[in-house]
Amino acid sequence: MPVLLGIDIGGSGIKGNLVEPETGLLLAERFKVPTPQPSLPPDVANAVAEVASHFAYRGPIGCTFPAIVKGGVTWSAANVDTAWIGYDAAGLFGRVTGERITVINDADAAGMAEMAFGAGAGERGVVLVLTFGTGIGSALFSDGRLVPNTEFGHIELAGFRPVEQWAAARVRSDEDLTWEDWGRRVDRLLHHLEQVLSPDLFIIGGGVARRFAKFQDFLTVPVKTVAALLENEAGIVGAAMAAARSIR
Ligand code: BGC
Repeated sequence: MPVLLGIDIGGSGIKGNLVEPETGLLLAERFKVPTPQPSLPPDVANAVAEVASHFAYRGPIGCTFPAIVKGGVTWSAANVDTAWIGYDAAGLFGRVTGERITVINDADAAGMAEMAFGAGAGERGVVLVLTFGTGIGSALFSDGRLVPNTEFGHIELAGFRPVEQWAAARVRSDEDLTWEDWGRRVDRLLHHLEQVLSPDLFIIGGGVARRFAKFQDFLTVPVKTVAALLENEAGIVGAAMAAARSIR
């Protein structure tokens, strides 16, 4: 069974691991380097190369990125340097690593992993995975098939645009919100998304997933809502899955 390198590029850390995409198994100890600040393309690329050389890996690499990604080009930059807008990220990472690179939106990657091996396994219908961290990422699935690059963290709600500036996990710590106050914000977002998408399932991902019990009671939306299961590793696994699909 093939083994691929998955790299998850986030606002604070860039982490990688060897993954068996068919099973979602992680095959080594995770390796993490801090995300360079400012997160300029050449510096981030060097960090990606450092992760790849740590594993002495040769072969296709999947990378997540917290932006809209089409054909390896990043088209937004909400929580990274604006130099990434319109940047050929796959080309750059390919030059520094010497390998074939697939770049995918971070939430889409996490969602793919969650649908294959986590809380969404076997779920049909419309499933929306939301990741709560520095921002809010989204991954929308219809009968298991991803609709890429949805950006539900960037809609306007409660007078905030993007809504992630009001309801991301970072806002809870920055504003010192109680789980109830923050949970009610999440609930309001879920109600809005329920009205426009009529989903069958919401999956709450990101670091808050393991604290789901703290805010679950404040979620009143009439849609089954569960915590993601793969936690921090979902992005790495999804990145490797995306790379595996691109070489098939
Ligand atoms: C970005 C998304 C990303 C999300 C989570 C948002 O600000 O626009 O592309 O998926 O943050 O990192």
